[in-house]
Amino acid sequence: MNGSHPTILVIFGATGDLANSKLLPSLFDLYEKKFLPDEVRIVAYGRRDHSNETYRTVVSESLSSYFVKKGRTETKAKSIFLSKILYVKGEFEGTDHYERLAFALNLIDKEVFQTCSNKLFYLAVPPLHYETILTHLADSGLTIPCGPGEGWTRILIEKPFGNDLATAAKLDALLGSLFEEEQIFRIDHYLAKEALQNILTFRFSNGIFEHLWNDRHIDAIDVVMAEKNTVATRGAFYDGVGALRDVGQNHILQMLALVIMERPNIFTAVRIQKERARVIASLRLSDMRGGIKKWQYAGYLSEPNIKKNSKTETAFFLNVYVDNDRFRQVPINLLAGKAFRDSGAYIKIIFKKSAECVCGRGVACVHKNTLTFNIQPNEGISLSFWVKKPGFEYEVEEKKMTFYYKDSELESELPDAYERVLYDCIRGDQSLFASTDEVKASWSFITPIVEAWKNTKSKVYDVGSDILRLYE
Ligand code: BG6
Repeated sequence: MNGSHPTILVIFGATGDLANSKLLPSLFDLYEKKFLPDEVRIVAYGRRDHSNETYRTVVSESLSSYFVKKGRTETKAKSIFLSKILYVKGEFEGTDHYERLAFALNLIDKEVFQTCSNKLFYLAVPPLHYETILTHLADSGLTIPCGPGEGWTRILIEKPFGNDLATAAKLDALLGSLFEEEQIFRIDHYLAKEALQNILTFRFSNGIFEHLWNDRHIDAIDVVMAEKNTVATRGAFYDGVGALRDVGQNHILQMLALVIMERPNIFTAVRIQKERARVIASLRLSDMRGGIKKWQYAGYLSEPNIKKNSKTETAFFLNVYVDNDRFRQVPINLLAGKAFRDSGAYIKIIFKKSAECVCGRGVACVHKNTLTFNIQPNEGISLSFWVKKPGFEYEVEEKKMTFYYKDSELESELPDAYERVLYDCIRGDQSLFASTDEVKASWSFITPIVEAWKNTKSKVYDVGSDILRLYE
């Protein structure tokens, strides 16, 4: 990043899994692509005992396994990158720890940068520590920018933002009392996935689709996110949360928002966030029988740290509608969960069948076109349509027009979502982050369902089932 101001990234929870498996590899990739400020330092803040050297060795090892996973070779850039990392040991509670952190940051400013640098604070810690860290950070004065045009400070905070509407509002009030909205970057890493960003470009840059984007032409919309993984070692966190709160309140609603939001009159972060929030606020549950369902995979109760009689859902289905003139009649199916046969996330727009078709004598006209945004794996877009099967009999068959990143040179350029998150935060672009209004709107919609489910048992499905066959 040429010409950018010196910057310090402070990672709270630097010895945790997120920092190791996602943040440091993403920072390395940004560094290698020269997408980090020329003068940068990473301050890893953690509770474990480490010197700069021992912590760098840990990072070096996790970068090496990351390279192996990606089929990449070791590079010289790694040792230069590692030299930019400093470790500060500290607790999350206790003013003196923050004084020590402030001392370390001031020293870098004074001796390395000789200016007041930008400071970015990444909270890669369990949410129960948010309040403590945010309050101490604000009290320590560390989050006060140096002055206009010099040395901004920003907070990056991971979902979940609260556990329901009330706790989300409380966290938001705290954030709002300590920081300006421009300083707060609420991460939903799905928004930062390349294939999701492509949805707005696709919708608003191709004149042939937008006039079909309404309930006269669309029959249904499916948003599906299946994962092969079970809860594995995350039982203690997951059991108090469940699938709806873990991925429904955030990733699924954000995927949906991008396909049903109105076009903002200008594409600024604030306008885009407003339109996403507005459409999430217009969702309502259908009154269809079986329109809300939750399930739990067989064996969940024997996973480590799961309550023996847990009712927590590991999969859910919601049938919803949007209360606006464009989509009022379109049923929307939201389906997500863990421990399924395949991992995959996609959004399918199913168009209405044509009133009459040329599909063979006496054949009912049931043929629909579908447009699918594949979020992962195999990121891309496909459009299905019907053609005449070659031959003397009159029959039609389904074909697809596709664009997959893997089929082009573009695949190697697909950045990881966390690279995007860090890059945009440094640039100060909040388009791919959740605003306070989006968080409120999504919790307002989800909280009553979570409440209703508290005492409801979940039906059981086998590990490795097909998510689309949950009903059978
Ligand atoms: C996280 C959830 O937000 O998203 C996890 O907490 C889930 O439970 C993960 O596994 C899925 O992310 P991705 O990018 O691997 O699809």
